[in-house]
Amino acid sequence: MFWFQRPKWYENAVIYQIYPWSFQDSNGDGIGDLEGIISRLDYFRGSPHSLGVDALWISPVYPSPMKDFGYDVTDYCDIDPRFGTLEIFDKLVAEAHKRGLKIIMDLVVNHTSREHPWFQEARMSKTNPKRDWYVWKDPLPGGLPPNNWLAVSGGSAWTPDPSTGQCYLHHFLPHQPDLNWRNDEVRKEFKKIIDFWLKRGVDGFRVDAVAHTVEDKRFRDDPVNTHFVKGVDLPYDEYLHMYDENQPEVIGVINLICESSKKYRDIFIVTESYVDLTQLIKIYDGCTYRNHTPFNFNLFELFKKPWSAEIYRAFINAFDKLVGPKRVPTYVLGNHDHRRVLTRFGETRTRLLALMLLTLRGTVFVYYGEEIGMKNVEIPKHKMKDGFATLIENPSILRDPERTPMQWSDDLNAGFSEVEPWLPVSEDYAKVNVKTERANPESMFYLYKMLLYYRNASEALRYGEYVPRNAKSSDVFFYSRKTSKEEWFVMLNFSNEIVNEELVVEGRKLQIACSTYMNTPLSSKENTVTLRPYEGVLFTSS
Ligand code: GLC
Repeated sequence: MFWFQRPKWYENAVIYQIYPWSFQDSNGDGIGDLEGIISRLDYFRGSPHSLGVDALWISPVYPSPMKDFGYDVTDYCDIDPRFGTLEIFDKLVAEAHKRGLKIIMDLVVNHTSREHPWFQEARMSKTNPKRDWYVWKDPLPGGLPPNNWLAVSGGSAWTPDPSTGQCYLHHFLPHQPDLNWRNDEVRKEFKKIIDFWLKRGVDGFRVDAVAHTVEDKRFRDDPVNTHFVKGVDLPYDEYLHMYDENQPEVIGVINLICESSKKYRDIFIVTESYVDLTQLIKIYDGCTYRNHTPFNFNLFELFKKPWSAEIYRAFINAFDKLVGPKRVPTYVLGNHDHRRVLTRFGETRTRLLALMLLTLRGTVFVYYGEEIGMKNVEIPKHKMKDGFATLIENPSILRDPERTPMQWSDDLNAGFSEVEPWLPVSEDYAKVNVKTERANPESMFYLYKMLLYYRNASEALRYGEYVPRNAKSSDVFFYSRKTSKEEWFVMLNFSNEIVNEELVVEGRKLQIACSTYMNTPLSSKENTVTLRPYEGVLFTSS
């Protein structure tokens, strides 16, 4: 945070991700759409019952053959008819803005659909003017791929194109040829696309797969990952991605996107790179624009480690410090590419993580349904839709289970659609849904609403400094959020046992604001509070 400037809306904001296929169907085709989202805007902001989030990030709604559910675009300046029209999109922006809600578009910069007219032209001949918009190489003798680069979705990152015999690069499905960001015309085209959406009033972009936009100029083979365990790790991890991902030039792409949005007010850019802390800080440092922040996906890495306060404490302390007071960290518990957090940890621990997420310094992201405790849904093979599924026999990469219809009520199809939805609704929908949880003050929904209420009402919780604190027990992750005027404290008991902690900090007695156990009162005796298994508590101080 820049203390001498007024904070921007996106600094320490809460951004809610909508996966449009699954949010709300308005026209009875079993697929969510823009009118459906419009009909649900009060859920987010503008009414006393609203959650109180700042912005919606909407996964791609561009025309697409949907091999990767919208992440394969055939026209960057239109809306897929399944979702609506440009006019309906304009209405969505206007209705959201009326409620003080911002709209963030997903910008798919690394690749187009194979059916995009640019690629259709490019593949026609080696001399076609669009040829260099994509990345082409001759196969090696014997028809082998030009190098050992792998596609994230499985197999080689190169596919031979019969029309010229050359191979094109695709970091994802063969249906998603990579654009060549070293080509000036591609860069110019994206400036125009950015302008097109900003003129329509969008408030920012989530930039898809930016880490893959530029590759090594010499196309060197990636080194073998000596730690790779076949059958356990993702096939993509067989090599270390030294030459095909996160090249230094990626910063140039990020800067170009930020630069293109400079003439509009307060546009937020968040970019997708799966990198460790050191590389993340390099991205922060490399980007010269204040309106940009990279996603921090490192909690997904922590999720794979043993569940312990020490691991979370060490990571968050280090990350917050490295990011520093002038920049803003980001945190996510889930998105459309990862197992839902509740499926990983069960309800009690997920509540602790929710309390952590919404009380940390940073711009945080909530994946649709997290706020009601939706979980992954097992999808029978014949109902699977994810394009990645057809290529890989590795179930951990399949993403349908975290993309199932939003559970609005205990009505037919959870209130998502009047007809059978594109993916099955979770069996638990009669209990886990917005309507039922709204009426239950113990619910996950209530916890989110309460935490968002506190975060919106308190300067310290939203903008304050993050201060690591020492708890008595090493199982408790303890921190505070502080401005010169107020301080809030957070205790997270990572153990599944009862733990006693001091209620007096620097002579100030802490007062309980909210617990992940909700209304079941905490017991506190004089200066001691008893935290129950996996309990998270937010305190004010007098
Ligand atoms: C990003 C998206 C993912 C998509 C991929 C290719 O990682 O989050 O869903 O499959 O890019 O566009």
